[in-house]
Amino acid sequence: SAVKDLAGRNILVTAGGTREPLDPVRYLGNRSTGKMGFAVAAAAQARGAHVTLVAGPGSLPVPEGVDCIRVETALEMREAVLRAFDAADAVIKAAAVADYRPKERAGQKIKKQEGSLMLELVRNPDILKELGEKKTHQLLVGFAAETEHVLDYARGKLEKKNLDFIVANDVSRKDAGFSADTNCVTILARDGVCTEHPLMSKRQLADVILDHVVAALGR
Ligand code: PMT
Repeated sequence: SAVKDLAGRNILVTAGGTREPLDPVRYLGNRSTGKMGFAVAAAAQARGAHVTLVAGPGSLPVPEGVDCIRVETALEMREAVLRAFDAADAVIKAAAVADYRPKERAGQKIKKQEGSLMLELVRNPDILKELGEKKTHQLLVGFAAETEHVLDYARGKLEKKNLDFIVANDVSRKDAGFSADTNCVTILARDGVCTEHPLMSKRQLADVILDHVVAALGR
């Protein structure tokens, strides 16, 4: 079993994609399965942490001993994350949160009509950015899912959201990012240090991310 180097720590993890409802039967979503976030939750639990996992819809089994809060929309995820934030020592945000939601949620199933259908979308709050503004002692780890200019965009998010680390994820690769069992990332730290990691399982990567968290919590 793993070294219990997170014993006594509260780790908050988000996983999966949000679903933004259009009507009672339809939603806007994304390709996140939750595998990356669930792997982080399992690894943190194995290292002795108390883990709160805020997860979007999905069928992955909740790791034993992990406290899982199920949510559907970005607004629900925000509520659950803010509730758990004060008690957290570190937050690892692997979830793929919808940036927009339909302005209206129809009460009844939307019926087919002649011609095209226009949807108006409104912005969702940026949960991680809000945490970056609110944080006192918490260590913040974000992910950046990018298809181009991966490191530049990731560094921009690290700064804009006031993070300690960002895990830059090139999601244009088939064996990395959404739904794969493996991932290939570069971890950027606030102080400019940048570590490039080879392709590995999401569970192995979870431990690499937690190694950064443990080192930073010890400083
Ligand atoms: O779930 P899997 O199938 O295993 O796939 C894993 C993954 C590709 C989803 C994961 O590795 C990953 O990259 N997650 C972040 C996806 C994402 O939405 O990235 P982003 O660049 O849009 O967002 C940047 C960061 O801000 C993320 O930590 C995100 O959780 C957070 N965010 C984004 C928008 C928003 N409204 N609120 C947020 O908190």
